[in-house]
Amino acid sequence: MYENFYNLLLPPFANTPNSRFFFETEQHREALAKLEYVVRNRRGFALVTGEVGSGKTTLTRTLLRRLGSEVRACLINNTRVSSTELVKMISSEFQLDLPEKPDKATYLTAMRRFVEHQYAIGRNVVIIIDEGQCLSIDELEELRLLTNLENETDKLVQLLILGQPELRAMLKHERLKPLIQRIAMYTHLGPMSFDDMTKYIAYRLVRASNERPNVDFSREALQMIYQRSSGIPRVVNLVCDNALLVGYSRNTRLIDSSVVRRAVDQMMPNFNNEGFGPADLGEDATLGNAPDEMIQPTQEYEDGRRL
Ligand SMILES: Nc1ncnc2c1ncn2[C@@H]1O[C@H](COP(=O)(O)OP(=O)(O)OP(=O)(O)O)[C@@H](O)[C@H]1O
Ligand SMILES: [Mg+2]
Repeated sequence: MYENFYNLLLPPFANTPNSRFFFETEQHREALAKLEYVVRNRRGFALVTGEVGSGKTTLTRTLLRRLGSEVRACLINNTRVSSTELVKMISSEFQLDLPEKPDKATYLTAMRRFVEHQYAIGRNVVIIIDEGQCLSIDELEELRLLTNLENETDKLVQLLILGQPELRAMLKHERLKPLIQRIAMYTHLGPMSFDDMTKYIAYRLVRASNERPNVDFSREALQMIYQRSSGIPRVVNLVCDNALLVGYSRNTRLIDSSVVRRAVDQMMPNFNNEGFGPADLGEDATLGNAPDEMIQPTQEYEDGRRL
């Protein structure tokens, strides 16, 4: 809607896990590198936890894009299923040849045959489970059996589980000790730092534009966005999208604190933090009605990396 006004081709802050917009903060880069390492080096099992909206699903899409055709990958997003259904989903993703009602042994035999064949033709098999916090203990145990598929030198199935922080508590269950012991890599995605968020915003604007986006964010506006979002990308997107809409309706390409304040007022209430009273803004509250300090767009946009 406002894209032309800001010289953009696409909505820059759409809340979809589009790998085209993947921005590598240090923690996202590290998590991606670790997952890729576990897959490429057949290390078996990796676990990623992360706050709600911190970028887990986006990470899985980016990883899938990076893994080439020598990797047979299966991505499971819907984990609110029984362990039998989970097995069925994996089997159908890999097009395993199974009887109508396979028992666990039949399934594991078919899986073994499949992964051994893939190994023989030089392909690696990876199962990526998103929304891991919704898995039951039974399902987690079922998945563990897959990590047992190995030959003398290599793990034949790589298993990556991503989920919200409560997944950590679930994994403490006594029955899951053998799974925990198999974790080759663990990482946690927290909120972005203020610096990362600033670069993230600039990056998404650049990625969504043809040449250069025609919009500036003031430092105070960025501070407000950080305060409202706590550095969580999904919320940053929401605030920025609303702010661009407010800017457009006011016919201004300067996103300053008054624009962000209006944008935030139109959003869902922040149940953790009542809004932007003077106390919330700390030192900035003393700015009163002084005009916002504008950040240098060139500098910010150059910081935003192009793919
Ligand atoms: N590193 C990133 N680069 C670009 N965009 C990102 C990044 N991380 C998150 N996002 C954006 O934030 C939104 C939320 O991210 P995502 O859906 O990946 O979070 P999540 O951790 O899977 O959340 P949930 O816990 O609800 O499943 C995405 O739609 C995406 O637009
Ligand atoms: Mg997700």
